[in-house]
Amino acid sequence: MYGAMVAGLVLFLSVAAGQFSFLSDRQPASVEAGLSEPVDAPAESESVQTPTLPLPTSSSSELAIPVNDPVLVMDPWARYASNELLGKVLLPEGSDASVGDGGVGSAGFVGPQACAECHRGRYEGFVETSHYHSSQVATADTVMGAFETPSNQVATRVRQLGYRMDTRPDGLYQTVVVDGRDAHAERMDIVVGSGKIGQSYLYWRDDELFQLPISYLTTPDSWMNSPGYPDGMADFKRPVVGGCLQCHSTWFEARSADLMNHRFLPEGFVLGVTCERCHGPGEDHVAYHRAQPDDREARHIVHPGQLPNERLTDICRQCHGGLASPTRAPFSFRPGEDLNDYIEPPAGRPGIHTNNQMQQLSLSRCFQESADMSCITCHNPHQNERGNDALFAIRCQQCHEAADHPLESTVGATALGENCTSCHMPKSPLLETPLRSSEGVVFPEMVDHFIRTGVSDQDLVERLASER
Ligand code: HEC
Ligand code: HEC
Ligand code: HEC
Ligand code: HEC
Ligand code: HEC
Ligand code: HEC
Ligand code: HEC
Repeated sequence: MYGAMVAGLVLFLSVAAGQFSFLSDRQPASVEAGLSEPVDAPAESESVQTPTLPLPTSSSSELAIPVNDPVLVMDPWARYASNELLGKVLLPEGSDASVGDGGVGSAGFVGPQACAECHRGRYEGFVETSHYHSSQVATADTVMGAFETPSNQVATRVRQLGYRMDTRPDGLYQTVVVDGRDAHAERMDIVVGSGKIGQSYLYWRDDELFQLPISYLTTPDSWMNSPGYPDGMADFKRPVVGGCLQCHSTWFEARSADLMNHRFLPEGFVLGVTCERCHGPGEDHVAYHRAQPDDREARHIVHPGQLPNERLTDICRQCHGGLASPTRAPFSFRPGEDLNDYIEPPAGRPGIHTNNQMQQLSLSRCFQESADMSCITCHNPHQNERGNDALFAIRCQQCHEAADHPLESTVGATALGENCTSCHMPKSPLLETPLRSSEGVVFPEMVDHFIRTGVSDQDLVERLASER
């Protein structure tokens, strides 16, 4: 039992870390030529001489990715470490009939639309946020990549293997083309990612969820190999386990409590990181207030603002605390509980394709030296406030005065007051997340939540001072 659990954790980490931690090694491509008329296609026996697969050590040293990181090295590439797989299409094997057919119950999640009935204003602000769009049903409106020829094509380093994205009457498909023929196609069923950075796609096979080999990168607007997928082979059998959904959705009804479970009820889910992920399941709350419309005192729902600070930040830390090792079933944590009863926090590095904002913030003197700072000191989860520097500057000035700033005499209080964060919380590329796009390797930019001096942008200081 213990052994199985540990194996589960290791696999969970490798699957989750693999998604964004390694290069998807796509060559910028002569797309048209590669696809329909393969030129120079090597004979079957020659395929072992095609370029060696980019194993983590080589791509890592090339890009100076920290290869001594256990999370990064724990390695989904191991299963690909064979040139024999180049040019191949990997499909999931037959279903495992041993899994029972029941789910573990809806657990009282009703979805954000149910809240709109009585919290209309909050709902309308919330649907503009990237939490709301963090996972969605795939439609022509939600999938951002192009379906027109030739932008719908992706070539690989193996000339005879490429992809095509198609619109069909029953949905949007990813098709792998081998030797000029359609070899396999799957429908994009679920979109993961709001598209601020990019999107990845999942497909159902009955109750099994798998990731698709092609993802989308917003800048530059292009399809790419899904992060962690080696170039030149088509893998349709990477299972999507609870961890991925747990950070990008509100609720999936799992077929089993196993950490490695990738079977869910195809109807039993609430997409997006929505109200009930932060407030707890709303079924009883909704039923009560529908029945008692005159009772203005909230029942059966969590108000995070009334929780102790640590329990409040635990809500955000579920997904913004780096790649932790789960110790209990996905989706079992509830707001108000102690998160450490559900995970072992990651040691040190952030892991996964995002910053560990919780850890970074906790290094800051702002956090350490004020009694009640939390994520919501600066973020209102019910509004999209991205890019609103002036608003964030107001949040800083709850505790600091621009007029007392050491640069007040050079830069001026007005200019300072409009923007605190580009000097003290600058964006920088996330080196753990190299994405190979049509324009070379791109690292998504992330805000540094370790608020401090000494990271300020000297150019900006000078520019503001000269404008004064
Ligand atoms: C039938 C009406 C109704 C529906 C539907 C409803 N609520 Fe409420 N909610 C209320 C009332 C009434 C209150 C108490 C007055 C207030 O704070 O607005 C409340 C208060 C709250 C509070 C504040 C809690 C507190 O302790 O002050 C939260 C959080 C909340 N609701 C979340 C939700 C969520 C999430 C949903 C959807 C799952 C939802 N509500 C659906 C009626 C409703
Ligand atoms: C530990 C939590 C966690 C796990 C596990 C996780 N993600 Fe994420 N992911 C995040 C966070 C947080 C962001 C947002 C980064 C930001 O905005 O700073 C993100 C961003 C993304 C984005 C870019 C979204 C955008 O802003 O455009 C995609 C795509 C994505 N994740 C896909 C996946 C997929 C697919 C999986 C699983 C196979 C996965 N993630 C697993 C937390 C997670
Ligand atoms: C990412 C987490 C998150 C999501 C998603 C979220 N909330 Fe909240 N909500 C919070 C936090 C944190 C607070 C406490 C804010 C505070 O005290 O300043 C809160 C407060 C509230 C309150 C009480 C406000 C008050 O003034 O007493 C209501 C009502 C509410 N949320 C409803 C909703 C509804 C409805 C949705 C979905 C449409 C939603 N929330 C989505 C985190 C979230
Ligand atoms: C269930 C996981 C989950 C929880 C809980 C969660 N987040 Fe997020 N958050 C995400 C993911 C995933 C994204 C990236 C969404 C995307 O772009 O696809 C994100 C994005 C964000 C962003 C970036 C928004 C933007 O548009 O740039 C902020 C800010 C944020 N979260 C703050 C919070 C705060 C504050 C809390 C706690 C009150 C919280 N989150 C709780 C998963 C979560
Ligand atoms: C809840 C109160 C609070 C908020 C909000 C807050 N800070 Fe602070 N901050 C503090 C405290 C307390 C200190 C330590 C004492 C001091 O230097 O004033 C501090 C220290 C700092 C320092 C000096 C750090 C060092 O290592 O010497 C900087 C820079 C800073 N804050 C910038 C910001 C910026 C920028 C924001 C907004 C993004 C912000 N703070 C928001 C409370 C806060
Ligand atoms: C143009 C860049 C820039 C902007 C904009 C800026 N700061 Fe600073 N800030 C600095 C630098 C540089 C220092 C360190 C100055 C020094 O040590 O002499 C600093 C120091 C600080 C300190 C430490 C003060 C101390 O006495 O040690 C705090 C707190 C702070 N800033 C808060 C803010 C807040 C709040 C805002 C927005 C109202 C802001 N800063 C805007 C560059 C900036
Ligand atoms: C002192 C203010 C402050 C606090 C506290 C704070 N943030 Fe942020 N956060 C910011 C600012 C400013 C941005 C940049 C906003 C923008 O997009 O313009 C940001 C951006 C983000 C993003 C988007 C990621 C990116 O790199 O673009 C996420 C996710 C996030 N914060 C999560 C959190 C979480 C989780 C916490 C609590 C652990 C937290 N923040 C606490 C100020 C804060």
